[in-house]
Amino acid sequence: MDGNGRWAQANGLSRLEGHAEGARAVREAVRTCRKEGVQFLTLYAFSVANWGRPRTEVRALMNLLLDFAEREKVELRDQDVKLQVIGDADELPLATRQAVQSAISYTSQCQGMTLSLALSYGGRADIVSAARAIALRVQSGQLLPEEVTEQTFQSALSTHGLPPVDLLIRTGGERRVSDFLLYESAYAELYFLPIMWPDFNSKALRDAFAFFSGRERRFGLTSEQVQAAGTVVPLKAGHGFDPHDASNSLLASAESASAE
Ligand code: IPE
Ligand code: MG
Repeated sequence: MDGNGRWAQANGLSRLEGHAEGARAVREAVRTCRKEGVQFLTLYAFSVANWGRPRTEVRALMNLLLDFAEREKVELRDQDVKLQVIGDADELPLATRQAVQSAISYTSQCQGMTLSLALSYGGRADIVSAARAIALRVQSGQLLPEEVTEQTFQSALSTHGLPPVDLLIRTGGERRVSDFLLYESAYAELYFLPIMWPDFNSKALRDAFAFFSGRERRFGLTSEQVQAAGTVVPLKAGHGFDPHDASNSLLASAESASAE
């Protein structure tokens, strides 16, 4: 969600007002995703690197987050949206953390969509902490090194339980991933658009979905294999392709379909 500051500047407003407008755009994006049947939406709200911004801006973002959690929890539950956090929520100021925690509890039984807020999140930091957690399990004898698979690794990331990223959208004109879901975006379709986040509306989101629908996702296979297979089932989270495993289901289904 990039471009709040530039949007504000272009409209003669303060950066903080830009962030407030950004929060409105979040509300609209959540509603649209829910309407369109998206099951998992993850929003990059605050990165580890964002702690380095001016103190007043960090404080304002934390207050905005507190407000958002308090004000939106009822609507989230009405829409059957379950809230969760990825990243290091312990780093948040107490009042913000409590408001977010309360919204998480309030929506914990919802099943229509999972909204994950990336807060104090960094993709590399998350990978490193997964590696550390696995190393500890190996050190204590709970796990053998050869038992460390993509499955084990995935379940040690803060995105455990979420599927791999299908579509990654970045507003604001930059063509960067900026430490977002590095492991999980291995086969994501990347969609960069020049509009600033506060202007990102349901029309823009539906355009992104249309872009996504037009992609041929090959997951390393050839176009012919994919077309012969009809629908290609993406590799499950953490279930990587093993070149020595002939039972790899993706390849097998593509090949058996083309043989028919
Ligand atoms: C919002 O946009 C992203 C926020 C975390 C926290 P920016 O604040 O990065 O806006 P620009 O890039 O300065 O326009
Ligand atoms: Mg920015």
